[in-house]
Amino acid sequence: MIDQLTIDRINEAARIEEVVADFVTLRKRGVNLLGLCPFHNEKTPSFTVSPAKGIFKCFGCGKGGNAVHFIMEHEQMSYVEALKYLARKYHIEVVEKELTAEEKAAKDDRESMLLVNEYAQKYFSNILHHHIDGKAIGLGYFRERGFRDDIIQKFQLGYCLDEKDAFTQAALKAGYKQEFLVKTGLTYEGENNYIADRFRGRVMFPVHSLSGKVLAFGGRILKNDKKLAKYVNSPESEIYHKSNELYGIFFAKQAMVREDRCFLVEGYTDVLSMHQSGIENVVASSGTSLTPGQIRLIHRFTENVTVLYDGDPAGIKASLRGIDLLLEEGMNIKVLLLPEGDDPDSFARRHNASDFVDFVNENSVDFIRFKTNLLLDDAGDDPIKRAALIQDVVKSIAIIPNQIIQGEYVKECSTLLDVNEQTLYHEIAKIKNRELQAKFTPKPNTEIADKAKETPTPESLVEVTEKFQNEEENLLRVLIKYGQHLQFIATDENGENSRKVTVSQYIFHELENDGLKFKNEIYQTILDEYKRFIETGRTDVEKYFTHHPDVEISKICAELITEKYTLSKIHSKYRELETDDQRLNELAPRYIYEYKLALIMNRRREKLLDMKKANDDKNMEEIKRLMAEIEQLDFLKNILSKELDRVLNLL
Ligand code: CTP
Ligand code: MN
Repeated sequence: MIDQLTIDRINEAARIEEVVADFVTLRKRGVNLLGLCPFHNEKTPSFTVSPAKGIFKCFGCGKGGNAVHFIMEHEQMSYVEALKYLARKYHIEVVEKELTAEEKAAKDDRESMLLVNEYAQKYFSNILHHHIDGKAIGLGYFRERGFRDDIIQKFQLGYCLDEKDAFTQAALKAGYKQEFLVKTGLTYEGENNYIADRFRGRVMFPVHSLSGKVLAFGGRILKNDKKLAKYVNSPESEIYHKSNELYGIFFAKQAMVREDRCFLVEGYTDVLSMHQSGIENVVASSGTSLTPGQIRLIHRFTENVTVLYDGDPAGIKASLRGIDLLLEEGMNIKVLLLPEGDDPDSFARRHNASDFVDFVNENSVDFIRFKTNLLLDDAGDDPIKRAALIQDVVKSIAIIPNQIIQGEYVKECSTLLDVNEQTLYHEIAKIKNRELQAKFTPKPNTEIADKAKETPTPESLVEVTEKFQNEEENLLRVLIKYGQHLQFIATDENGENSRKVTVSQYIFHELENDGLKFKNEIYQTILDEYKRFIETGRTDVEKYFTHHPDVEISKICAELITEKYTLSKIHSKYRELETDDQRLNELAPRYIYEYKLALIMNRRREKLLDMKKANDDKNMEEIKRLMAEIEQLDFLKNILSKELDRVLNLL
């Protein structure tokens, strides 16, 4: 960890306009600077930098934040990496925080393992390029497969000699501890001091982390020996969790952002071949089906995935399920089917780079269409098979979170399957209902049933988080931008007898009086910290929060305060758009009332649901009780609506 003092110094030194100017040409526009956004393609500049506030914001794609965020986003770096980058740029010495003994031991372990892997990678590459056997066998193999030298270099390929423990002995001699050689899996350890190299006689593919560290190796055998596994991989360890890593991600991440797409292939050699053809936004799941962790990793860089298949129908069908996981994450998926018998590697070898790229562009089809056609071929005219196929396709469509995209698929599949849209929607609704029911019905297991009673129903949860996001954000935005400004609070009906308080005093008073906490945890954290911050007597709220040491907080705050203000329906009824400053006296009360109204309406929806259930159960007592509660809520709602009206007409 970098200590807070150093982080503060970096934030103070890093001038946003200078940091951005290393990557974007900026022109002066009023107090701000303007340029073409580096995060999406645009012809007219909407990328704005505010030197006074120390933040950037693109009004085209919505990205925004401070100097650290810019570097994280642009260079695809972690928070710490970005801080170190800025420290270098501004010649600030980085002081790392002292760790506890436990943290230190764990960190030391991981670091030692990474160091061993780094040594091993260099050792294996060195053998490949300079040792007589390495050159003849290892390098010979790669060249015979058609890999160019620049690709062999870039991916840091290597060779492990076919000797019992040549590598391990070299590593021990170079001072690396046996403990870490074993922990990384490079060395086998047996009884009576038996040691051996795990990868002997194999060509080596290092697996890199997002930041380029060597986490593991895949070693490929050279002979065609059915008795031996084609690949041997490093075992799971403190530094290598196979299901969270993707082969090639380090070399792909920038191209993934630039092209806004990720190609997904099966193996090491597919990744290499595609790079050789000039397609760099490619990663491999390394032979296993995709995990949610890997999908999230891809999602950090793009929403668009193209899955490459070799034309083997059995293999394709087996992997369809994995793709549903991608749909569920909200990714847009295309599929590229290669000619029968080809994988990306063999295909790339038989075609030149530009033909390969053309093939990709011309033959990628949308996943749902692909799946539908594939199953249609299978089903032929068999009505039972066709019915099953419709179910299957609808299941995939039903998990797409975005309703607009879902609607487009329904339209398309209605044509493909010759089934009307209404029927498809009906099937989708049935699937969703079944899911909901499965969630609502308490399992016979009493432990689970008890848990279900404690937690709010899933449906109300969905509504809660969705419905209050806006309201909570509005309040936070006003707090951060204007929290220390004074506002007039009318204390009687006519709006007279106003008194002056700060905006933040007003908001905290209102929230605490009703014991309200934000549903969004990080927003609540910001609120808590806000209070602590002003209690220390400091007032530079905006600067503090947009440069907050917690990168998630600073990013949220920077984006909040640069959000373009959009009129809500309620407001536009009353008057033309004015700036926030002009409306300060009504702003905070308005957002408070809107927030409370939203809470009440949500409560009412919950009660209605309960009412439906009580009705089904014919529970008259319960129905009466709920009616009274709803009446009470309606009463509160009326009061709040009147207050809101009054506030909006105040000035
Ligand atoms: N794999 C593995 N262990 C095996 C076989 C495969 O870990 N015994 C993983 C590897 O990551 C491999 C991927 O699954 O890259 C795909 O397997 P395959 O297509 O058989 O290998 P290729 O990478 O295509 O290798 P080659 O072209 O050299 O046969
Ligand atoms: Mn292959």
